[in-house]
Amino acid sequence: MCGIFGMIGQNAVKTTLDSLRYLEYRGYDSAGIAVKRKEGLEWTKCMGRISELQKKAQGMAESDIAIGHTRWATHGRVCEQNAHPFVSEDGAFAIVHNGILENYLELKKELPNVHFSSQTDSETVAHMLSAVYRGDVLEAVLAVAKKLQGSFAIAIMSVYDNKLYAVKNKSPLVVGVSRNGTYLCSDVGCASRQAEQVALAEDNTVAVLSDKGVRFFDFDGQERRAKFFVAEQSAELQTEEGDVMLKEIFEIPQKIRASRQGYLQSGGLRLSDEEARRLKRIYLVGCGTAYNSGSQVACVARNFLDIDILPVIASEFIYDNYPVGEDTLAFLISQSGETADTLRAAEKIRHSGGITYAVTNNACGSLGFLCDYVSNVCAGAEFAVASTKAYNCQLVTLTLLLADIAVSRKTLSVQVRKDILCGLEEVAVASEQLLTDVYPLVRLAEELKKCSAVFYIGRLSDYPTACEGSLKLKEISYIHSEAYPAGELKHGTLALMEEGVAVIALATDEAMAGKIAYSVTEVVSRGARVISVGHAFPEAENIPLPKVHPYLADIISVIPLQLLAYYTAKSLSRDVDKPRNLAKSVTVE
Ligand code: G6P
Repeated sequence: MCGIFGMIGQNAVKTTLDSLRYLEYRGYDSAGIAVKRKEGLEWTKCMGRISELQKKAQGMAESDIAIGHTRWATHGRVCEQNAHPFVSEDGAFAIVHNGILENYLELKKELPNVHFSSQTDSETVAHMLSAVYRGDVLEAVLAVAKKLQGSFAIAIMSVYDNKLYAVKNKSPLVVGVSRNGTYLCSDVGCASRQAEQVALAEDNTVAVLSDKGVRFFDFDGQERRAKFFVAEQSAELQTEEGDVMLKEIFEIPQKIRASRQGYLQSGGLRLSDEEARRLKRIYLVGCGTAYNSGSQVACVARNFLDIDILPVIASEFIYDNYPVGEDTLAFLISQSGETADTLRAAEKIRHSGGITYAVTNNACGSLGFLCDYVSNVCAGAEFAVASTKAYNCQLVTLTLLLADIAVSRKTLSVQVRKDILCGLEEVAVASEQLLTDVYPLVRLAEELKKCSAVFYIGRLSDYPTACEGSLKLKEISYIHSEAYPAGELKHGTLALMEEGVAVIALATDEAMAGKIAYSVTEVVSRGARVISVGHAFPEAENIPLPKVHPYLADIISVIPLQLLAYYTAKSLSRDVDKPRNLAKSVTVE
């Protein structure tokens, strides 16, 4: 799971290195670049971030053809040998790969005399190309493409011509053209920084890039057409000092407003009243933070919708037997719009006749293209690996979508829907308020960093918020953390309560505060310390919350948790923007 970039055009080395920085959200444990020269191929690679590669490639002369890679290890540990590009033994082919080759062990057996220099699946492709080459590069690429199984976007260069070849199945591949060059890349945002027009390659496609343009073929060599479009210019990477995650948290109030506005301007819910009335069930499908937002909004929507609303983890949905038919609507939630599990779930739902509706922060991403309808959550580009503002915006968009379905089904009055819309401005103001005095959270973080474990508890819609708070903390501080519905604590987890453990109790719903109070007493009497968010309990330190519409309370209750995770990680000197073992977008199943 990685990012790939390739181009034909002036200053290819500089542009490739710069583009790889943009793709670092897809993986950042090692990186490499290969260029074509008259004398042959030249490449360099190293462990660590793109900044390391930039240092290492400083002496590299410019070229008009380059391919580059940023890695998130799947096959083989993180080391220089396993970093891409891989070059065939004869030095004729260099490749970079995003995805997983499921049959690479069998393919390796077809190359008994080859010395493999890495433990990766990807290296096989470079050697296969050289083994099948008989004077025509495209023929060799097609012959190899037909043998590959799994998910792949592979960029190939060779000494034999001045072209780049890209082979694609399941992993994203964007191809771009401009007056200055031709490009291939793992995402639209990155490609559109260079290209005037971009196209998304279909599965089982070989793209051939030359300085004249791009041609597409299926694996049998039949020419294919692709639809080019002008993509929205993406935001540039932050260059000023400071952590991106903190900056993104502080953008939340402004993005809540943008999300509400974006929803209204785009025309809101795309389903007709008739379609909404026919629905029998709604799934909210996503991974990580995106799953938590679906899970959170499902709890709220059960208050006003009269059908089954079920949050499901995308990687489970793919293999489980959830019923899907024409009466099924699935919201596929994904910040990046590129998460492999979510894409596979969307494909499955489409196949079974359900309606697919992408809720994404990247309407031009693969998910947006795959689904019947798209809503952009309008959080603006998010770069920190731990998602923050996109979560708040997913809650805004999903709440509005589900409220509009309920209005169509006449289970929610137009007036309450209006209250929700107006309430969102109060939510933006409340979030500004929460961000004005962060000192108490900085102080609490100093305590949390000493804890052996931190548990997050809540009931009803506070429980998904607890899950999100816990995910944030473990992702970036590496402190062990779990979330539970508060009532479940007594069924096992209470055994872990002792001194040195902290419990964060979410209590935004006054009606449930009495129930949370039991859990607070239970854990305090076993030596754990408690911090409550919302309602104040005598035994716990409290983070108060401004009052907002009850259906919208979770959009703000998560903010102190996002900040707590950030400040705790910071005081432990963690790399908050790029935590270990993670990537912002997980493009393998
Ligand atoms: C990865 C990231 C998470 C993110 C999840 C889903 O696991 O580390 O922060 O929530 O992917 O990403 P998506 O782009 O689909 O929202």
